[in-house]
Amino acid sequence: MKGWIKSTRKSKGLTFCTITDGKRDHQITMVDGECVIDGELKVGASFVAEGVYSKTPKGQDEFLVSKLTIVGVSDDTYPIQPKKHSDEFLRSIPELRGRTKGMQATWKMRHYLTQAIHKFMDAEGFIQYYTPLITHADCEGAGETFDVQSDWMHEKLTVSGQLHGEVGMMSLGKIYTFSPCFRAEKSMTRKHLSEFWMIEPEMAFYDLEQTIEFASIFVKEVMLSVISRSVYPYDEFKQLGISSETVADMASMIKQAWPVVTYQEVIEKFGVIYGDDISSEVEKKVVDYFKLPVFITHYPKELKPFYMKKDDKVAYCFDLIFPEVGEVIGGSQREESYDVLCAQMTEAGLDMEKMKWYLSTRKYGTVPHSGFGLGFERLLMYLTKASKIHDVIPFPVSY
Ligand code: 4AD
Ligand code: MG
Repeated sequence: MKGWIKSTRKSKGLTFCTITDGKRDHQITMVDGECVIDGELKVGASFVAEGVYSKTPKGQDEFLVSKLTIVGVSDDTYPIQPKKHSDEFLRSIPELRGRTKGMQATWKMRHYLTQAIHKFMDAEGFIQYYTPLITHADCEGAGETFDVQSDWMHEKLTVSGQLHGEVGMMSLGKIYTFSPCFRAEKSMTRKHLSEFWMIEPEMAFYDLEQTIEFASIFVKEVMLSVISRSVYPYDEFKQLGISSETVADMASMIKQAWPVVTYQEVIEKFGVIYGDDISSEVEKKVVDYFKLPVFITHYPKELKPFYMKKDDKVAYCFDLIFPEVGEVIGGSQREESYDVLCAQMTEAGLDMEKMKWYLSTRKYGTVPHSGFGLGFERLLMYLTKASKIHDVIPFPVSY
């Protein structure tokens, strides 16, 4: 047995330790006088032990140790003690918080979600495509970019891989990116990071309705995969203190059809003025009303970026709003006409010379197409019931 000590306890000639090998916790037992211990049993120390697997009188699994050697010492300054630490305290020690049960479970679920996404996309015939992180293209056009500067370059960090993803779509039909994105906006909320991960599928010949249908199947499948891996025997939900009722609620939510409503319907029902964006408060009212994730479509065209397909009033777009975490996906059908797109780009004030590469997608063999961006940490927040997005990424970067 190899691992790290999480707690120690002595009782009637016996020493018990809860240890982790990274994969799961185990109980190890040492009988005084029958076990050779080389080093000090301190919480946080690493060890190698020899012994046999056995059962406690109560029938629980244990590892009966004959020899234990401390490999890396620890001492009383080690901040992760066998008690409940507040999320706030743990955020102050990102380099050590991963050694707690809850964080171990979260990092594993992050892995499960990643694997589920790649597996789903592969099975659906999507090719993973790689887009630059350093670019001049400010996809969302909100000017919330970080500068990248050296003595020979002045560019920006990407806010979204979409525009380059559209180039990939023109070559492969169906692609997705899985990539970091960077936003410099000064958002100090529980669901904004300056550096986060986005999954961006882009599909040739898909219209808005087909894309919403696909997004729904995609999110449900990957959620189901994470949920079914996070129960027995590894029990990540249990380690996070998430009840089986809550897990059952998430599982039943996946089985239902998620409502699709237009912006117009939302503003009529929830008293928003036409032309205003849908605030987090209104999003919350919408999901509370439906008690399910909700697709909101067809926002006023003025609210949306240059690349979207628009008619004289609305953009052919959608957001997927989740309970607890708000917007998880933003997506749209793209404007495929070279002339119309040029006009929309000029109106948005883009440097047309610099964007020539992007326009080539509409110049040669243009095609109706659509795509979306899934905020990886937002979905993971929902699955792990994290109170802040900062608790689902090992080293959060935020304003
Ligand atoms: O809605 P957004 O800005 O959409 C785009 O960037 C499109 N270009 C995507 C596309 O069509 N390919 O961002 C997509 C998602 C949001 O719905 C949200 O889940 C997440 O990315 N997101 C953030 N997550 C964490 N921190 C932030 N600051 C985020 N900003 C967006
Ligand atoms: Mg959005």
